[in-house]
Amino acid sequence: MKLNKLKIGKTETPGNLLLAPMADVTNLAFRLLCRQNGADLTYTEMISADALLNENRKSLLKGLSSPEDRPFGVQLVGSSPEKLREAALFIEDEYRPELIDVNMGCPAKRITGTGCGSALLNSKKLIYEIISDLTDVLKTPVTAKIRILKRDEKTLEIARLIEEAGASALTIHGRRAEQMYSGSSDLTVIRAVKQELSIPVIANGDIRNEESAEAALDFTECDGLMIGRAAMGNPFIFKRIRHYLETGERLEFDRQVRQLEDFENYIALLEEYDLHASTNIRMHAHWFTKGLRGSRQIREKINNLKDGKAIVELIKDFHTENY
Ligand SMILES: Cc1cc2nc3c(=O)[nH]c(=O)nc-3n(C[C@H](O)[C@H](O)[C@H](O)COP(=O)(O)O)c2cc1C
Repeated sequence: MKLNKLKIGKTETPGNLLLAPMADVTNLAFRLLCRQNGADLTYTEMISADALLNENRKSLLKGLSSPEDRPFGVQLVGSSPEKLREAALFIEDEYRPELIDVNMGCPAKRITGTGCGSALLNSKKLIYEIISDLTDVLKTPVTAKIRILKRDEKTLEIARLIEEAGASALTIHGRRAEQMYSGSSDLTVIRAVKQELSIPVIANGDIRNEESAEAALDFTECDGLMIGRAAMGNPFIFKRIRHYLETGERLEFDRQVRQLEDFENYIALLEEYDLHASTNIRMHAHWFTKGLRGSRQIREKINNLKDGKAIVELIKDFHTENY
């Protein structure tokens, strides 16, 4: 049995599989779906501290949660310690998440251009100030998510600094920011970070299936695994990996049925929480139909539809026609 409990701050989960924060993906409905499929802990997509403080409606929606959506973390992105502190206090009060995470890994130009995300990795002083400020004022445990740096020693230095500043856990994606998504996630550096720190370390990057999950846990000896892209349109990945880590056996399933049923469940959850208007249904429909029989034709049809409801109807018909 390789599925272990995970404890971050006071939050203890029966397993150690986490859903990664993903912009335009990990809204409340998607997080609930991943949870129903076995994710132990989920994160919201990054929320800009600036936008939140300006009471941007879309940003406020990103932190929306429900009693079933627990434990969950809210991820903040920003570069000003004062604004991050103010935004985090608002989040603590408004959403009461179990964790508040700081994005120190996003390599997108629109984020790094304002000194946020992975740009923070260039300033040890700022990293220390942000994390220690947050841990001083919040009751909620603070976590950070980073990418690796060019030299391993530098990655270890930043990881140690984050721990010293009071973070309760660290997630590390084993790619450098300039790699974006090229190459592969470097488990050797992640393993070195795990050996160096005493707070929980979560391994992230390229966990796609049962084998890669087992290999990452075995090799890095990390406290948990964070799964991102493999869950897009495929929340069932959590059930598969969970089952494999618990039993050593692969779960038999029909991918076609699974993904289409999950898409319908996703739509129902979007409706329940009134998240239709703020969700790009076409994008999700593409992910949920990826790799399925007849998906090329259905995806072409999806491209020609504007209305989210019409896309849902199309996929429902596709599902019925196929079974
Ligand atoms: C569509 C998309 C959106 C993402 N948004 C965020 C984000 O808001 N915050 C963050 O820390 N990382 C974000 N990431 C990075 C993921 O959390 C994760 O670190 C990365 O995808 C590597 O993990 P994976 O190989 O399991 O996908 C995003 C990734 C994708 C594909």
